[in-house]
Amino acid sequence: MRRDKAVTEGITMLGRRKGYEIREGIVYLTFEGGQGRIEVMTEDIVNVFVPYEDSAHRSKAIVGEKNKHVWFEVKEGLDYLEIITERLLVRVYDRFMVDFYDREGHLLCADYRGNREFTTPISEKFVEILLAEGHEAPRDNGENYAVQVVKRMEGDECFYGLGDKTGVLNKRHYDYEMWNTDNPQAHTDAFKALYKSIPFFITLRENCVYGIFFDNTYKSYFDMGKERDGYFLFGSDAGNLDYYFIGGSNMPDVVKNYTYLTGRAPLPQLFSLGYHQSRWGYESSAEIRAVAEKYRALDIPIDTIHFDIDYMDGFRVFTWNEKEFGEPGKLVKELEKKGFKVVCIIDPGVKVDEDYYVYREGVEHDYFAKTPEGEIYVNEVWPGDAVYPDFGNPNVRQWWADKQKYLVDLGVRGVWNDMNEPASFRGELPQDVVFTDEERTSNHAAMHNVYGHLMSQATYEGLKKYDKRRPFVITRACYAGTQKYSTMWTGDNQSLWDHLRMAIPQMCNMGLSGLVYIGTDVGGFGADVTPELLSRWVQVGCFSPLFRNHSSKGSTRQEPWLFGEKTLEIYRKYIQLRYKLLPYLYDLFCETQKDGLPVLRPLVLHYEKDPECKNLNGEFLFGEDILVAPVVEQGATKKLVYLPEGTWYDYDTREKLTGGRYLIKDAPLEVCPMYVKAGSIIPNYPPMHYVGEVEVENLTLDVYPGEGTYIHYQDNGEDFAYEQGEYNAYECKLTKDETLTIRMLHKGYKKVYRYFTICYKGQKQKFEFNGESLTVWLS
Ligand code: NOJ
Repeated sequence: MRRDKAVTEGITMLGRRKGYEIREGIVYLTFEGGQGRIEVMTEDIVNVFVPYEDSAHRSKAIVGEKNKHVWFEVKEGLDYLEIITERLLVRVYDRFMVDFYDREGHLLCADYRGNREFTTPISEKFVEILLAEGHEAPRDNGENYAVQVVKRMEGDECFYGLGDKTGVLNKRHYDYEMWNTDNPQAHTDAFKALYKSIPFFITLRENCVYGIFFDNTYKSYFDMGKERDGYFLFGSDAGNLDYYFIGGSNMPDVVKNYTYLTGRAPLPQLFSLGYHQSRWGYESSAEIRAVAEKYRALDIPIDTIHFDIDYMDGFRVFTWNEKEFGEPGKLVKELEKKGFKVVCIIDPGVKVDEDYYVYREGVEHDYFAKTPEGEIYVNEVWPGDAVYPDFGNPNVRQWWADKQKYLVDLGVRGVWNDMNEPASFRGELPQDVVFTDEERTSNHAAMHNVYGHLMSQATYEGLKKYDKRRPFVITRACYAGTQKYSTMWTGDNQSLWDHLRMAIPQMCNMGLSGLVYIGTDVGGFGADVTPELLSRWVQVGCFSPLFRNHSSKGSTRQEPWLFGEKTLEIYRKYIQLRYKLLPYLYDLFCETQKDGLPVLRPLVLHYEKDPECKNLNGEFLFGEDILVAPVVEQGATKKLVYLPEGTWYDYDTREKLTGGRYLIKDAPLEVCPMYVKAGSIIPNYPPMHYVGEVEVENLTLDVYPGEGTYIHYQDNGEDFAYEQGEYNAYECKLTKDETLTIRMLHKGYKKVYRYFTICYKGQKQKFEFNGESLTVWLS
């Protein structure tokens, strides 16, 4: 860990505030010991910046101009400079201490004025003993981070976000690191880092909510009151001090504002929201064909099959293993005829092999990362000795984007980017391996956390260029903003009840961090799944935006028919439910493009004032209208469910329930407790084996008594025509006096539903739709 004394005392060293000037809407502040600046991005978002390394932001997360040039004014206060926006007061003091208030003068967030109180440093001798015993070295302490901001804890803070982390929903009293890490051990709450670095968190206090995005790609640290309860902090080993204070009237507003800055998940192809089957261990086309046939024979809906590394020739990316997988593309096309779409894995590591075109091209154009001495840097991954494309170089991204054509031409419909932390079998890449950061030379320390992000960007751009449809990319490593290019999964979990339990807070926090299109390996990647665990996992998978069963070579095979009739029935039930709910899920994706709100949400997002929701680790919302409380305990057949305020309906029994209380729900193995909010309208598809098998002319609306408005979208589910207005939007309005009106809000897609079937209080009625509007009296 780097400790650069000069910078360590950075903020403190800035000393007294001397003056300021405003240039092009940015407040440049001069201190005795240096410069800082404050930029008002929007009325809610303010950037705090100290150019320790560079005077530019060099953000990898933020694309395009995000400064809305809103009104603000600057006033001298007693001992501070005050910057006033429509919604915030920002006070800047000596030593570049910055405090944020709302316009009524209520404190939101203040810098901590004291010094950190480190826990007693551990002697070197003791560290040696720990290491000798095989323990991890403790984090060194007693020194500040090179770049560091310490904020005062006001008392009742809860913290959410931080991307993909293990552990509980509320991160108060925990500490984490941002350093994309592929650790094959079973992930536990004690892990500081996994594969993704999303340096963004939300602070929730009574009557106060805000987010902080620390846009720094170096190894960074977040201590949410673990070291001392009086403060929380974020810091990094190097780089600029560059953070955004993100306000908003409530938690959804903060998420909207954060995703305004870093981008939102684009609308996916509809098929990708169906079910996916994968396994590292499908070693031939015969094996894959058999799996596909079995799914169809057993009447289990499925759209996508993933090809893991064995489809490649000796793990050389952009090649085909003809011996086991036949003529390139033949199997892909054969599967396509049966409604399957194929996703192929691509790792960044390029095999060192003079006879291999990708390696040769990369060497010829100087596209691989180098040692400080100027040699191509070699480490090891699946193909043996391998080299690393330098994705920070725009030419390398262009080259990699063009490489996707190979797969597109074979009929492949999506690309799975793995091992892109980047992983390396012969120890981590040294920090000084030379990478590029756009036009300048950089190193591994700076580019590590954005390696997967840039690889996904290149993949996305290549698929968009050659396939023309909405790119389907899955990535393991991410940085803030990767949601613009890719979906993501939580990496190598294991078939453990602990990992199923963990999946809920893990995905909830990813969702709050802008990562919307996410999932876990259903059933668990490593270790051996049991019938019961698989039955419970598919109940979580059903509501995970990315719904993929994946497992590791060497573990028990995990296809649903291998565990007996009962497991198969349960598995089929939840995949069928997923396909029934597909239009609802697709609508959520249409909305997230506009507001950045996640699909899978913690209850606290919509019920932030309810203390019961602040630490709810065992349930979540699927959109705003459906509450899911899966059983995640071995042997349990009952679930303690918290229903927040309002009226809810039990999805299975349709029983009306009053919220603001706990209830105990009977949940035998085949039941995943689900509740729907009063006034909800949930669109349902008819049964299908895969997307596109049947043309939906009759949309079912599952209507729950109450009042509400719902917008449903319809388009071709594949390409970008919707951006030119080729979509339909139906507004469905339910009133208290039990009328439902369906009105065409936007008509741009040629296939308009011909019928609506309305389910209401146990009755089903079919109505013809005239393409304009329909009013139904429900009682
Ligand atoms: C590691 C990935 O996390 C896993 O999903 C994949 O199956 C293996 N690499 C093999 O490609």
